[in-house]
Order: sequence, then C-alpha cells, then structure tokens
Amino acid sequence: MKTYKIARIDGDGVGHEVIEEGVKVLEAVAETYNFNLDFTSFPYGADHYLKTGELVSEDGLKELEKYDAIYLGALGDPRVKPGVLEKGILLTLRFHFDEYINLRPVKLLEGVPCPLKDKKPGDIDFVVVRENTEDFYVGVGGRAEEGKSREELEIIRSLYQLKFGLDIDLDGDEIAYQLGVVSRKGCERVIRYAFELAKREGRKRVTSVDKANVLTHIYGFWREVFEEVAKDYPNIETEFNFVDAITMWFLRKPEWYEVIVTPNMFGDIITDLGAMLQGGLGLAPGGNINPDGLSMFEPIHGSAPKYKGLNRANPIATIWAGAMMLSELGEKEAAGGILSAIEGVLKEGRIRTPDLGGTSTTSEFGDAVVEVIKKSL
Ligand code: IPM
Ligand code: MN
Repeated sequence: MKTYKIARIDGDGVGHEVIEEGVKVLEAVAETYNFNLDFTSFPYGADHYLKTGELVSEDGLKELEKYDAIYLGALGDPRVKPGVLEKGILLTLRFHFDEYINLRPVKLLEGVPCPLKDKKPGDIDFVVVRENTEDFYVGVGGRAEEGKSREELEIIRSLYQLKFGLDIDLDGDEIAYQLGVVSRKGCERVIRYAFELAKREGRKRVTSVDKANVLTHIYGFWREVFEEVAKDYPNIETEFNFVDAITMWFLRKPEWYEVIVTPNMFGDIITDLGAMLQGGLGLAPGGNINPDGLSMFEPIHGSAPKYKGLNRANPIATIWAGAMMLSELGEKEAAGGILSAIEGVLKEGRIRTPDLGGTSTTSEFGDAVVEVIKKSL
C-alpha cells in the first residue's frame, strides 16, 4: 500500500480546529481508497515564535523537504506584528519550495447560498491560477527614515529627480517604496500552467489579469509573455482584463470565466472576492504548487483569532484543500470522493456552520463528511 508523508502545520487561531477536521476526513478517505497517510506535526506559528523566537529555521526547511506535501491551517496572531508570521512562515515556505502556482478554484457547490441573485452552481465555476513567487511579493523595498537600504534609496532619489525634478532629502523627507519584479521565466511557467490546465480540463478560455495601462513595465512584460505562450494553444481563447474591471465582471457575469491567470498581488485580491462568490471565505481552498517539488495546501482564509477554540469555524475550505492535496499526489478518485462528500452534506442541509446560517460545530461538519465517505464504501 502506498504511503504519503504529510507535514502538518496547524498554525494559529482556528488553524488547529480546521486541520483536525481535514485530517479526520483525509484518514477516512485513505482507508476507503487504500492508501496510507502519515502525518507529522510541526509547531510553526505564533506560540512557537513567542516561545522560541523561531519562525521557520533552515533545519526546519531541510526537514520539511523529506515530505510529500504540507498541510497548513492558518497563520496570523494579534500578539505578533502583521507581516512577521506571514512573511517569516507562509511566504518563506512558498518561496523556499518554489511553489510558483497558487491554485484557487472558485466553485459554487450544491447547497450553498450564493450572495449573487439568481446564480446557481455551474454559473460560478472557474479556476484562478495566481503567480506565487514574484511581483510585489518579492520584498524589495525600504523606508528612508530607517536609514536602511541606502543604495536602493539612492536609486529612488535619482528617479524622483529625473522624472519629477523633485529633490528628496533622504535623511529628512520620509519616503517608503516597494518594487514589483517579474521575470520571463516566472511569467512563462505560471501562464503555461494555466493553459495546460485549461487544455486538460477542457476549459475554453484563459483570461489574463493585469494593470498594463498604468504599471506598463511590469505588466506590459507579463502581457508579452502571455501572448507568446498563447501561440502554443491555438484552440484556447484568450483575453486581457484589467484588474479593476475584473472585480466588476466577477459580479456581473461570473459564468464567463473559465481559467484566470494573474500576477501575485492581483491574484491575492481577486480570490477573496472569488471566495465570496462561492459562498464565503470558509469555503475557499488553495494549493501552493510546485509541479516538480513540494506543494502546500491551505484554506484561503486567515486564522480568525476571535473564533479560536470555539469550534465554530467552517472547515470546508481546509477539507477541500486536503482534497486538492490528494489530487496533486495522484489520488484523484479519493479527491473527488471528498468533494462529493462535502457536497452531499451541504445538499442535505442539516449540518451547517454559523457562517452558512447553521448552528453546527466545526467537528460536527467534519464528522458528517466522514460518515458520507464511509457509507460510499
Ligand atoms: C493569502 C494571504 C497571504 C497572501 C498573506 C497571509 C501573506 O492573504 O494566502 O491570500 O497575501 O498571499
Ligand atoms: Mn489573501
């Protein structure tokens, strides 16, 4: 029997509760479909950081390399300044393992009320392929008043002088800046992934998102690469949407979209909107994928600290992320089994967490999904 080694990182807030349910469901489905899952917990998150000062160590990363996948709950804690855990753990893992695809299906499941009037499952069913390692996430930036990154600041000062005739006193005027960077290789690989996905799933159109009308350098380049890659897929329709416009079209005509490929930051923003189209953040899963390496699966939502320990968070996003993990590991049937079990419980409608208007607990939902899986034996 095949065994997959899974690194489990519960993280912060409701992370522990939702991962518990995910693991419960994954174990049930493994039994049904005849494979083993061997989970090992890693302590990364706010508690561990506050106790030891460690986010993720070099040794930790080396250790994680031995696993087949990472299953992550959520990160973020009010005791820690914003950015510390996010950059020190989540982004570190994404970058270290070069998980250059952030795959986020936006699908309205049967039995979930949609906030858009008259939209049914089938109307909302697209995939966002978000670039996951470049753009404004590369972390290049600085602030003058900290007196850091002097060389970079000198470049910015010259730019200001050249373009606007403005003189900045680096020791007096406060400025902050952050640079977005994209590479041909980085754009190429994620755009190609999106086209391959469209081809594989028989989806007829790939939409590219950018802001090439203003951020002409970075997204003009992105467009060029998109057009080049598109030539290899003559049977797939293509189009460009500006990021501001796509937020409008998501509400007006979500059924139009099939596969969307987007630079990192716009992908972050539009997938929270996408989550609402599918019924809420509690239902939106994501996969950080390196097709040739170690991938990591997590709900899109955050740690929701105020709900920690209350057993009321919706575990669907995390359970679904577990299904995406199995799919990436090659256990497609088991992955499909999880998704139809989730839908089964939703359609029946008796067990729902408060975000969906119900009164059930996190673990009651997980139990119900397990029950459906066991019955399908
Ligand atoms: C997400 C999150 C992260 C991101 C944060 C927590 C760093 O919002 O996964 O969408 O911006 O990518
Ligand atoms: Mn986000």
